[in-house]
Amino acid sequence: MRPSFTRSRKLPVIVLGIETSCDETGVALYDTERGLLADALYSQVDIHAEWGGVIPELASRDHIRKTIPLVREVIAKAGIENSQIEGVAYTAGPGLIGALLVGASIGRSLAMGWGVPAVGVHHMEGHLLAPMLEDEPPAFPFVALLISGGHTQLVRVGGIGRYELLGESLDDAAGEAFDKVGKMLGLPYPGGPHVAKLAQSGTAGRYKFPRPMTNRPGLDFSFSGLKTFVRNTIADEVKARSEATSGANSETSGELDEQTRADIAFAFEDAVVSTLAIKCRRALEHTGLKTVVIAGGVSANLRLRAVLEQSLAQQGGKLFSARLELCTDNGAMIAYAGAQRLLAGQAEDLAIKAQPRWNLETLPPVKP
Ligand code: KG4
Ligand code: ZN
Repeated sequence: MRPSFTRSRKLPVIVLGIETSCDETGVALYDTERGLLADALYSQVDIHAEWGGVIPELASRDHIRKTIPLVREVIAKAGIENSQIEGVAYTAGPGLIGALLVGASIGRSLAMGWGVPAVGVHHMEGHLLAPMLEDEPPAFPFVALLISGGHTQLVRVGGIGRYELLGESLDDAAGEAFDKVGKMLGLPYPGGPHVAKLAQSGTAGRYKFPRPMTNRPGLDFSFSGLKTFVRNTIADEVKARSEATSGANSETSGELDEQTRADIAFAFEDAVVSTLAIKCRRALEHTGLKTVVIAGGVSANLRLRAVLEQSLAQQGGKLFSARLELCTDNGAMIAYAGAQRLLAGQAEDLAIKAQPRWNLETLPPVKP
C-alpha cells in the first residue's frame, strides 16, 4: 500500500521530478532523507542552435522522445524499483505551453499509474530552491535574485511559498540580453555561456557600458537599452574598420577582430554584473536581510558569483548559490520543490496542470 499524502507528514519520501518547460529535458529522483539519488539531463541545444533560438514545436516533440527514457535512466541509476517512488513533481509553468504539457502529461500519468500523488511545480520556485540541495543551504529569510532566460526578479523569501516580489525586469531578462548579445557577436545559441567565455580574454576599460536603472531608486531592472548600446558599439566599430580599409573586401573589413569582440563581451558582462550587484546591495538595505541567494541559468556566470560574493561581504552579507549544473534547468530542483509541497500535503487532483504564465507570489505557503 502506497503512503497517502492527503495529510502533512515528515517521513522520508522519494519523489520523481520532471522538467520540460523549455529546451532541456531534466529528470531526477530526490529522497527527502538521503538527498539527490540520481539525475539525468538532455539538452536540445543542438536542435535549436541551427535556428538561433528555441523553436517551441521542436522542443515539445523532443521532450516527447526523451522524457520516458530519462525516467527509466534515473530509476536505473538510483538502483530503485518504480514501486519505491512515492510522488511525482513536474514543472507546470511558466514556460512554453507545448513543452510544459509533455512533462505534465507524462508526470501526471505516471503518478496515476503508480497510484501516488503528483504536484505541478513553479519553474522559478524550482530555481529558487535549488541551493537547498547543497551541503550548506541558506536559511530563511533571504533575498533571492532569480536570473534566467525568461526572468530577472528580486524576491524576498520568507519560506517556501512565501514570496514577495521586490523588483523585476521591465523588458529583457538578463539571460535574454546575454543571448541577444551573443547573437550580435556571432556566437552560437544560447549566447550566455559563450559570451562569458569570450569575456575572459577581454580587456577591462576599453569600453564602458551603462549600468541601467542604477542611478535612480528602486529594484527594477531594464536590459534592453544596454543591448542597444552593445549593438551601436558593434556598428560603430564595423563602420570605423570599413572606412579605414575602403576599397578592401567589405565583408572581411566589416568583421571585428577577436580582441574587439572579447572586449565588447567583457564590457557587457561587466555592466550586467555590476547592475545586478548594485541591486542586490540595495535589496539587502531595503529588507534589512543579510543573505542573497542567486538562482537560474545566469547564476552559473563565474564573474557574477565572484563579484557578488565580494560586494556582499563588504556589506556584511553572504551569497548562496547552487553548483553550476543545478543553476541551469534540471529535474533535481523540480523534484526537491515538489517533495516539499507533497510533504506539506499539497498534492493535486487528477488534472494535468500547465500554464505559460504564473505569478510566483500566488503560490501557497509551505509551513515549516
Ligand atoms: O534557467 P535557465 O537554464 O533557463 C530558463 O529558465 O530560462 O537559464 C538559461 C539562461 C540562458 O539565457 C543562458 O544564456 C543563460 O541562462 N546562461 C548564462 C550562463 N549560463 C547560462 N548567462 C551568463 N553566463 C553564463 N555562464
Ligand atoms: Zn530555468
